[in-house]
Amino acid sequence: MLSLKSPAKINLFLRILGPRPDGYHEIASLFQTIDLFDTIHFQIANNDSLTCSDHTLSTGEDNLVAKARNIFRRKTEIDQCYAIDLQKNIPVQAGLGGGSSNAATTLWALNELNGRPVSVEQLAGWGSEIGSDVSFFCSCGTAYCTGRGDVLREVSKLKSQDLWVVKPLEGLSTPAVYANLKMTELDNCDPEQALALFINHQPHYFNDLEHAAFSIKPELAILKQELCRNGFSTVLMSGSGSSFFCIGDGDISGISGCQVYRTSYVNRQANAWY
Ligand code: C5P
Repeated sequence: MLSLKSPAKINLFLRILGPRPDGYHEIASLFQTIDLFDTIHFQIANNDSLTCSDHTLSTGEDNLVAKARNIFRRKTEIDQCYAIDLQKNIPVQAGLGGGSSNAATTLWALNELNGRPVSVEQLAGWGSEIGSDVSFFCSCGTAYCTGRGDVLREVSKLKSQDLWVVKPLEGLSTPAVYANLKMTELDNCDPEQALALFINHQPHYFNDLEHAAFSIKPELAILKQELCRNGFSTVLMSGSGSSFFCIGDGDISGISGCQVYRTSYVNRQANAWY
């Protein structure tokens, strides 16, 4: 049995550059993995099975773990079945990439169980066929991602940062947030410049999807205001929401109706998993 941690991510900045002919959006974003984890157990078996601690999640072929298992088997032509058990801890519909992380972790695990026949670059390429964020989770944990999020430039580990992740009970659907995006409302700061600022320890945090998410759920704008009033120096929605990450010496104790997680940045070593 192989048991692996599957980390969440946040977007330290997220710029939307415009719609693409394929229905996706061109983005430029600095992604960072955090030490908020699901755990996945993998075992070679006579038949495929997928179980999950969260009974509200599908364990059918639409689960990204099942998609990753199927794509690994198809591409490698290794005719092997797997028993997989997913213990969920990362909230869903949160902008934290939990499903994509689970898919990348599955690709890594099946590669391990079969003696590493495939390079991590190849796994990342297969990951992009599963979802836009899956390739990122094949990186070492800090990456500047462009294209639809699947074109990676690894970035050296940033100075670790303690943060709170705050997830309102209601989530947000990624396609709904993108569909609500108004390009004219976005500022046009240069993402390469934003990246250089982060590398030079002068971070400027922003997320172009916040407006679109707040127009679907105005209560998110109110929650952000409340978190800012509570003393955090940075409060930013992660990805397409609905979670926020909060940096600084704020007070989280008065925040009700949300799941709250104390986390920090985490990276993996080049040759190992988290
Ligand atoms: O790739 P993934 O399945 O995670 O994307 C979910 C949805 O989010 C897409 O169907 C699309 O509506 C939206 N999306 C987008 N541009 C991106 C990533 C996602 O429009 N770069």
